[in-house]
Amino acid sequence: MTQANTARRPDRVLSGMRPTGRMHLGNYHGALKNWVDLQTQYDCYFFVADWHALTTAYDETQTIEDFSREMVVDWLGAGLSPEHATIFVQSKVPEHAELHLFLSMITPLSWVERVPTYKEMIDSLESKDLATYGFLGYPVLQAADILMYRAERVPVGMDQAPHVEMSREIARRFNDIFGRGADFESQVMATLDSQGGEFKKAFLHCHRRYREGGDAEALRQGLAMLGGLESVAQEYVERLEGYLRGTGRVILPEPQTLVTETPRVVGLDGRKMSKSYGNTIQLRDSPEVIERKVARMQTDPARVRLKDPGDPAKCPVYAWHEIYLDEEQRQWAAEGCRTASIGCRDCKQPLIDALSAERTEFIERATPYAENPAEVERVLAAGSEKARVIAKETMHDVRSAIGLIHG
Ligand code: TRP
Ligand code: SF4
Repeated sequence: MTQANTARRPDRVLSGMRPTGRMHLGNYHGALKNWVDLQTQYDCYFFVADWHALTTAYDETQTIEDFSREMVVDWLGAGLSPEHATIFVQSKVPEHAELHLFLSMITPLSWVERVPTYKEMIDSLESKDLATYGFLGYPVLQAADILMYRAERVPVGMDQAPHVEMSREIARRFNDIFGRGADFESQVMATLDSQGGEFKKAFLHCHRRYREGGDAEALRQGLAMLGGLESVAQEYVERLEGYLRGTGRVILPEPQTLVTETPRVVGLDGRKMSKSYGNTIQLRDSPEVIERKVARMQTDPARVRLKDPGDPAKCPVYAWHEIYLDEEQRQWAAEGCRTASIGCRDCKQPLIDALSAERTEFIERATPYAENPAEVERVLAAGSEKARVIAKETMHDVRSAIGLIHG
């Protein structure tokens, strides 16, 4: 049983990434930067989804550990800090597997079959064997990752939104099935009694107004009363909330999907930046490499000669300017381009400067970890242990709701 009253803790945030090795700027602007911003505002849990790598590549396991470590070095280089966020590895918290098992029992087959990425990935990754039980169950594993931490918010890219949505549906189903034990009502009344007659009367009044009259204000008031409860275990608060809402006890709360707004990140060749296209800028590329890579970056093809005017909207470099240059520099570039008063080489210089400065900062932060893998392992071990405390609590509640506590 949880003793602490967690009603007023900062919202918990959870997200994960598959171990893909060194990160590029597409990964950074698509997710990691957002994580770094979130870590000081919320109680953040970020993890390496190493089991997820197995769902699409069970025959490439030899890279998983190195890729995990390299990725985490980049997380730390980008500014994620174990002082703020809990950074851990999925496989070090084996409770994820147990929750996945339970959730798989109640997830209708039709739900996993209709996940949009399922058929798409089978079609697009022809070289891979995706006709496995594990790959079909991938979103259920993801639901276990998410629901385990009872996080309020899950920041993900657009492509992952359907998976978070499905974890909400699975949570709802779980709570419907297991959230209302035989003694549900008597437990609710006992908790209310422990809060005194006034509290009980006011709460039951809200309950009646909401359940009988659909009064949303009464629901709001009832929830506010629960938010103000002190020294009542979370389990009991959840039961009261379930009673108020009419759903039973909420064992696995539904998280909110936070779709990350991300800028368009194009690769050196103007296509989407992607490891498989070989068109990336890496988080820890040296300033010399940046100089070389930006020099060969595509520009507006209409600017063959210096005197040909160009159109920034058609230029991949300008897409980068949108991210890295300030308003004044951007105007200078756009004007100079349209009037052919600057060359592409000049135009690229402030971008080279900004990217190099950012790289230098990331490399500086990452180097102590890159040079000392044991230090990375230490961060991950400590984070995983911390994550496990929550995972164990959740699993205790889950097992007890299902009726699988022996002894
Ligand atoms: N499926 C995600 C991806 O491919 C990674 C992931 C696994 C994840 N579990 C998660 C993301 C839980 C958010 C929350 O990018
Ligand atoms: Fe692109 Fe700048 Fe060259 Fe114009 S001047 S095409 S914006 S690099």
